[in-house]
Amino acid sequence: MTGGGDAPGLNAVIGVVVRAAILEHHWEVLGIEDGYLGLIENRTRPLHVADTSGILRLGGTILGTTNKVSPSRYSTGLDQAGKPIVQDMRDVCLRHLRDNAVDALIVIGGDGTMAASAPIFEAGVNVIGVPKTIDNDIMGTDLTFGFLSAVDVATDALDRVYTTAASHARLIVVEVMGRNAGWIALHSGVASGADVILLPEIPFSLDAVAHAIDSRTARGRRYSVVCVAEGAVPLAGERVISRVDPTSPDPIRLGGVAKAVADAVEGRCRIECRHVVLGHVQRGGTPVAADRVLATQYGHRAMEMLRAGERNRMVAMAGLALTDVPLDEPAGRQRLVPPDHALIAAGRAVYTSFGEPK
Ligand code: F6P
Repeated sequence: MTGGGDAPGLNAVIGVVVRAAILEHHWEVLGIEDGYLGLIENRTRPLHVADTSGILRLGGTILGTTNKVSPSRYSTGLDQAGKPIVQDMRDVCLRHLRDNAVDALIVIGGDGTMAASAPIFEAGVNVIGVPKTIDNDIMGTDLTFGFLSAVDVATDALDRVYTTAASHARLIVVEVMGRNAGWIALHSGVASGADVILLPEIPFSLDAVAHAIDSRTARGRRYSVVCVAEGAVPLAGERVISRVDPTSPDPIRLGGVAKAVADAVEGRCRIECRHVVLGHVQRGGTPVAADRVLATQYGHRAMEMLRAGERNRMVAMAGLALTDVPLDEPAGRQRLVPPDHALIAAGRAVYTSFGEPK
C-alpha cells in the first residue's frame, strides 16, 4: 500500500517488493489501491511480476494514493453545521485484511500513514514501513526517497530563475514545498547559491530580507533570488494558508508566502519583484538515480526483514547505512532542520541570508 502524498521512487519500491516476494520467496502479493481508502473499500488487486515491468523509472505510484483518509477518523462529508462527519473504520480495515488472508502489510508512506497502521499491527498483522516524502522530515531516518528528486527540480528552477532575474535586474522569490521542515529549501537554496533562504524552522524578519537585498544592490549586484519554503513564517505574522479542507485529517494546505515576501520587498527596496510557486512540479516526474537506488534498497530490505521474521519495523538510513527502527519511531514527531545545522553555517559563509533579525 502506498499512502500520503506521492514521491518519486514509490514505484521502484513496489517493483522490488513484488519481484522479491514472487521470485525469491514464492509469496503472493496484493496491491491495495489508493492507500487507506482502498483498504476501507476493500479495493485490492493481485500484483504479478509483469505488472512491475518498466515502473522503476516511473514517478507517482501505480497503486494510487490519498492523503485525505485516516481509518480512525474517516470523513464521509460535512454535516449541516459544516463539521466533518467521521466514522471509525479501523475494524473494517482489519476485516478486509483478514478476508484477503493478508499475513503482512508493507506500508510505503509518511509519518501519518505509519502511525495509522498501529491498530493493524496491534491486531497481529505484521507491518513493515518504508518511509517516503519529498520533505525528508520523517523521524527515525536520515533520508527518504523522493527528497533528492524534489531538490533536483527545485535547484533547476532556481538556476533558471537566476538568468532571467539577472537580465531584468529583478528579485525573484521561488516557493518550494516544505510544510514544517525546510530541507528542500535548504538543499536547493544552497545548491543554487540563493541569496536568501527562508525556512519554517527560522522565523524571518522582512527587514533582514530587505537588508540582504539592499546590501547586494550596494555591492553592484542588480538582481537577487530568494528560496522560501511554503511553511516559512515571518517573525510578525502567520504561515500563509492557501486552502482548508475540513474533510481531510490534515486540513491545512500552505502556499502564498513567496508572493507575500515579493510584495513586501518591493515595498521596501528599489527593485522590481516577481514570484514563482513550484508546487507539485517537485513531486511529479521521473525519480533521480539516487532515489531509484534508495527506493530499491528500502524495498528489498523490507522483504529481507519479512523473511527474517522481523515485526513492526520501519526501514531507515542512518548516515550512509541501511538499517531499521521501530515502526512507531516517527509517530507524532518530525525531523526538522536544526538551526545550527552545518549546511546553514556553510550557506552563511557564502553570504546567504537566512532572514534572521540582526
Ligand atoms: O508532505 C509532502 C507535501 O508535498 C508537502 O510538502 C506539501 O505541503 C503537501 O505535501 C501538499 O499536499 P497536497 O498534495 O495534498 O496538496
